[in-house]
Amino acid sequence: MTLVLGIETSCDETAAAVVDENFRVLSSIVESSIDEHRAFGGVVPELAGRAHVTTIGPVVRRALDDAGLDPSEPAIAGLAVTSGPGLIGSLLVGLSTTKALSLAWGVPYVGVNHLEGHLFAPLLESKDLEWPLMTLLVSGGHSLIVRQSGPGQHEVLGETIDDAAGEAYDKVARWLGLGYPGGPEIDRLAKDGLADALKLPVSMIGDDFDLSFSGLKTAVVRATEAHREISLEDVAASFQSALCEQLLRKLRQSLERFEVRGVALAGGVAANSALRAGVTQLAKEFGLECHLPTMAMCTDNAAMVAAAGLFRLSSGVPSQLNLSARPNWQLADVT
Ligand code: KG4
Ligand code: ZN
Repeated sequence: MTLVLGIETSCDETAAAVVDENFRVLSSIVESSIDEHRAFGGVVPELAGRAHVTTIGPVVRRALDDAGLDPSEPAIAGLAVTSGPGLIGSLLVGLSTTKALSLAWGVPYVGVNHLEGHLFAPLLESKDLEWPLMTLLVSGGHSLIVRQSGPGQHEVLGETIDDAAGEAYDKVARWLGLGYPGGPEIDRLAKDGLADALKLPVSMIGDDFDLSFSGLKTAVVRATEAHREISLEDVAASFQSALCEQLLRKLRQSLERFEVRGVALAGGVAANSALRAGVTQLAKEFGLECHLPTMAMCTDNAAMVAAAGLFRLSSGVPSQLNLSARPNWQLADVT
């Protein structure tokens, strides 16, 4: 059996996981430092980096234990680590740890792109996945529409030109005085609100696949200043409706333009109930397989990194010891 140990430390999650060559997850441990960041309304890079340093060792140990592997000499074929994009201090903790383990155990390692990791998540949950696939990848840091013709073969059709979808959720939540992260709270409030209570623009109505959420966030601020009596539920429902409409409209355009067998959602915002319902409906309409990640697979984890690493290690060359972290590594630059 070929096993890969994945390590993920690009943001506030410290994660390690063991995955086999059939993309079966033998173990997956995720620890988050989110509680330390809440008071600041967002992830504080310095705190995240320090948390990784203390957490990474125990997390790796637990991932090996859960997979039934000997921590002093685990029977793994290699390691995979997120080497970008992400917070530089956080990435360096995962990368340095991985290099040290690679040397100690005498196995190769590979640095993988975090976004490519998200694209491998459906492979871990849908065994009979058929290609090509259209994936909407929406998180706190990124929003992209990607056409995948096979594992590791992806074409970025469009991406946000300003804020990411999750970032818009978090900024609007902060404006409304809600906690961080704002997505889950707005999602919950929106269920009891009216989606047409506020007139908000659906940005980017052109026929390309780029996205934009900064104007929507400003429109929410203006509209709530003008209608101070409006309930939080109505603001949440109106904002969520406009944001999802943009995402679903662009996804629909991509499905009209390109022939695919399935559609997938990935990233933290893939947990959103309205978006999940909209994508399910769209897939049904186009007669496509719909791949919605479980909640654990929406957020950052190391199983998806191990899966991408399995592919990279088996099809390419391992990384060298002089590999550096790439905080701004674009998915389009992954070859
Ligand atoms: O993928 P992720 O865990 O971290 C990044 O790589 O960014 O995504 C976190 C983002 C946050 O912005 C959070 O507000 C958003 O995902 N999020 C949601 C929901 N759950 C998490 N956004 C909308 N609805 C949700 N239910
Ligand atoms: Zn992510």
